[in-house]
Amino acid sequence: MSPTTEAITQQSLPKHVAIIMDGNGRWAQAQGKPRVFGHKRGVEAVRESVKFCRKLGIQSLTLFAFSSENWRRPEDEVSTLMELFMMVLSSEVKKLHKNNVKLQIVGDVSRFSDKLQERVAQAQALTKNNTGLCLNIAANYGGQWDIAQAAKQVATKVQQGKLQPSDISEELLSEHICMHDQAPLDLLVRTGGDLRISNFLLWQAAYAELYFTETLWPDFNEHAFADAIACFVSRERRFGCTGEQIKQLLAQ
Ligand code: IPE
Ligand code: IPE
Ligand code: MG
Repeated sequence: MSPTTEAITQQSLPKHVAIIMDGNGRWAQAQGKPRVFGHKRGVEAVRESVKFCRKLGIQSLTLFAFSSENWRRPEDEVSTLMELFMMVLSSEVKKLHKNNVKLQIVGDVSRFSDKLQERVAQAQALTKNNTGLCLNIAANYGGQWDIAQAAKQVATKVQQGKLQPSDISEELLSEHICMHDQAPLDLLVRTGGDLRISNFLLWQAAYAELYFTETLWPDFNEHAFADAIACFVSRERRFGCTGEQIKQLLAQ
């Protein structure tokens, strides 16, 4: 069975879900609180989403925590986000490990403080052999950065004579894109009501189902997540085929 056929016939629950966790600032501002209050409450929604994915047996959950463009925010918001990231890494890692979760930070971590990079490395090392949910936290991540870093790896191999330019194909480049060793992205959710991708998983989203909700991230609970999954399950994914072909495949 080809990977596409397999994806169609096995389509029940998504294997890989990614979420653009947006709306923290507006959630806080609606209550007359500073934006950072929303980021802190957002951590609770992260815990709930991780728990829900574990319960459903989803293989990978990728959360957009900080984009390569978010450095443009006011300095105090950026530093609060970094502190929060540091705190959450320290406080949650043991529990994630106990729950067999494999934690990976996806993005250019070189711009983070040495201390934060150290925590990231420790957390990844501790959980690297876990076999349950793969939790990918996208931090200083950009979809364009991801494609560029893949191109850089491939160019290096060409320079070293390990590859010929004619070897470069979609498949080859795919093998250098972040999370290539995990299930392909099935469902991309964005909370907070905006209808854009904001430079998230540009390559990986090629055939993902998109789901947008007005719900602000701190309010995104198990029920809201279940609605997104139910919507995904009701969709017909055609991967370029016709509806008739899909029906035939499913009838086999
Ligand atoms: C998403 O919420 C969290 C980060 C980008 C870190 P926002 O902070 O973008 O919240 P809104 O969109 O301004 O409400
Ligand atoms: C996307 O949200 C990034 C994260 C959720 C981490 P933004 O709030 O930064 O997106 P834009 O700027 O509105 O497109
Ligand atoms: Mg936003």
